Amino acid sequence: METILITGGAGFIGSNLVRHLNQKAFRLRILDTLTPQIHGAIPQGLDWLGERNTEFIRGSVTDRRIVETALDGATAVVHLAAETGTGQSMYEVARYNEVNSQGTAVLLDILANSNTRTVKRIVLTSSRSVYGEGAYVCDAGHGRVFPASRPAEQLARHEWDPICHLCKQPLRAVATVETDPARPASIYAATKYAQEDLVRVASESLGINYAILRLQNVYGEGQSLKNPYTGILSIFSTKVRRGVQLGAFEDGLETRDFVHVDDVARSIHQCLITSRQINQVINVGSGIATNVLEIATRLTATLGSRPNIRVTAEYRLGDIRHNVADIDRLRTILEYEPRVGLTEGLERFAQWVLTQPLPEDLLDRANAELRARKLMG
Ligand SMILES: NC(=O)c1ccc[n+]([C@@H]2O[C@H](COP(=O)([O-])OP(=O)(O)OC[C@H]3O[C@@H](n4cnc5c(N)ncnc54)[C@H](O)[C@@H]3O)[C@@H](O)[C@H]2O)c1
Repeated sequence: METILITGGAGFIGSNLVRHLNQKAFRLRILDTLTPQIHGAIPQGLDWLGERNTEFIRGSVTDRRIVETALDGATAVVHLAAETGTGQSMYEVARYNEVNSQGTAVLLDILANSNTRTVKRIVLTSSRSVYGEGAYVCDAGHGRVFPASRPAEQLARHEWDPICHLCKQPLRAVATVETDPARPASIYAATKYAQEDLVRVASESLGINYAILRLQNVYGEGQSLKNPYTGILSIFSTKVRRGVQLGAFEDGLETRDFVHVDDVARSIHQCLITSRQINQVINVGSGIATNVLEIATRLTATLGSRPNIRVTAEYRLGDIRHNVADIDRLRTILEYEPRVGLTEGLERFAQWVLTQPLPEDLLDRANAELRARKLMG
């Protein structure tokens, strides 16, 4: 039986992946720090870590000795462990770099220096954030363009859409393809891009098969309800349950590509079992753009509440305006078609949320940290 090391396997995507792989013929080894920001000071609801064929090691991907132990006999690595808050990364630069970039480097360093290397595959969960704003079209005749992140002065004027650098006209978002240029606009994105390069270069030199999955906005059962720095649906769900008004940034019409965690887990599984040599980047999303007002309205209704949503015209520097993935490679290379539509996904998420203890609403505190550093207006 193959042994798969899953770093960060106790987190949102990891726990769903473990549940999925547990039904297959794999031995799983999870390496996770159980970071308090995600799991709370006293981690709870992790009984499944002791399930059959699942071994749990508590420790950090930056700790060489522990990673060496975790890699022992592993045939594949799914590297999920990361710090994941885009806004927070802008003022916790060293921590994000240490966990995301250095953690990946430690893993690869051990593989590069091992005489008894058993690892044949690496799956890295990267992020759509490496594209920055991603792909747009200038309808005034300048074709497909890749705008820089929107400057503070533009956002302060409430001019939300990226503009064409040639004719200064607003641009129209289109699906971003894997071959489009990377243009990270946050420290988080920069560290994810660094992870990609490290995995690609090391794997090619060591003859290890690799897959780099650029995940879009993942949502679903098991997403941390305690972490105010990431996970828009988790954050919104807490506000809805508390009967507090939902604030939609900008004009609420910014779009995201929401992909259910089940589809992400299945895509990772596909990377582990395919006989193809992937060795490339693949977008994992739904291929459908949904704006924030719509997702807020639908989530509120699914949770059985009346809409109480206000467009705040607030903004965060480094946030992208629109995002939708081209998922042609997901279909053709991974032979995977997303299965969980938004209606079903929201239903499943809402049902799970309503079984969870009501968390503290920490969003205002997280936003205050950004404002204090002039990263939010
Ligand atoms: N959730 C999304 O929307 C999304 C989107 C794009 C990419 N991703 C990527 O997917 C991966 C998993 O994301 P997630 O949403 O499950 O996040 P998560 O925060 O729920 O899980 C991350 C896990 O990593 C663990 N961890 C943190 N630092 C660690 C360290 N130093 N050593 C070992 N474990 C550590 C945490 O305790 C946590 O259990 C990340 O690499 C993230 O960048 C997620």
